[in-house]
Amino acid sequence: MNSSHFTILGIESSCDDTAAAVLTDGNIRANIVASQDVHRQYGGVVPELASRAHQSHIVPVVEEACRTAGIRLSEIDAIAYTRGPGLMGSLLVGASFAKGLSIALNKPTLGVNHLEAHVAAIFIENPDAPLPFLCLLVSGGHTQLVLVRSPTDMEIVGSTLDDAAGEALDKGAKMLGLPYPGGPVIDRLAREGKREAYTFSDAHVPGLDFSFSGIKTSLLYFLRDHQKAEPGFADAHLPDICASYQEHVVRYLLRITAKAIRQYQPKAIALSGGVSANSRLRELFTELGQRENLPALIPSFAYCTDNAAMIAMAGYFMAQEASFTALDALPFARGGK
Ligand code: KG4
Ligand code: ZN
Repeated sequence: MNSSHFTILGIESSCDDTAAAVLTDGNIRANIVASQDVHRQYGGVVPELASRAHQSHIVPVVEEACRTAGIRLSEIDAIAYTRGPGLMGSLLVGASFAKGLSIALNKPTLGVNHLEAHVAAIFIENPDAPLPFLCLLVSGGHTQLVLVRSPTDMEIVGSTLDDAAGEALDKGAKMLGLPYPGGPVIDRLAREGKREAYTFSDAHVPGLDFSFSGIKTSLLYFLRDHQKAEPGFADAHLPDICASYQEHVVRYLLRITAKAIRQYQPKAIALSGGVSANSRLRELFTELGQRENLPALIPSFAYCTDNAAMIAMAGYFMAQEASFTALDALPFARGGK
């Protein structure tokens, strides 16, 4: 350990973003992300291409993070990396890099769970977040309600039975002929459209779980029927369709969140994951907090989508409990450790 300060290099490579961050005593000093445009032409992430892009991005991204933070590699006390879940080929690049650095610097590694890190992102800007809080974690691969008792004690109280919220938006966008990833494009187009223009059918799932396959199919049939009656319908009404579809997905997420609030009586609510960059979700989530008289903790954009600051933060909490990871630990594509 480096005198009284503890500096962590965070590395994230679970999907299609190569990211590195530097954190000292819980404060972010650098947060660098290199996105991979190569997937755009394929309409989704191509795992093989993602691994290759990580391989070429990882060294410059780590160097830039150190340069931004004004530190040398030798000043790092531990290396936090995403151990899973994610694409195995992508995870292996970050994990192997972290292990190599660990051997070179003789510093320990912290193998972080990507989903716990999305929750840890909340603490970057809210170190004194009221506990327990209920976190709606919405990304391209996951949709969960997590009851957070402490940064290292969390329980998944609801999750999706099929698609993730981001997937529902991305696949919906694909049906509309929009580029990948479609979530941000829908968000942008929706601003010009009427939210109440169209309605889509609901998914009924007991408890606090989610299902998006019905909503997605509802859009598919809606488009098929309208296109038949009016060729060119989708292009002619794109903003209205985006606004209505996004509204449906967002309100569905918030309805289940409100149900979980009643059940668990948390002290605050929080939003995390890539879909929490959605402007309508942020707006209605804030309103939900006001209605329930609870603080609504919403991270800045840079901490919503995949980033290494959240990995470093989650690693920081692990380090405080001396929960370091062995060098022979394997990355995991699915589930927990
Ligand atoms: O957390 P993230 O960066 O990666 C995963 O771990 O999945 O989330 C990516 C997801 C994608 O589905 C993308 O479409 C969605 O987040 N997303 C958005 C917005 N920005 C990113 N969805 C809706 N509105 C946005 N502004
Ligand atoms: Zn993520």
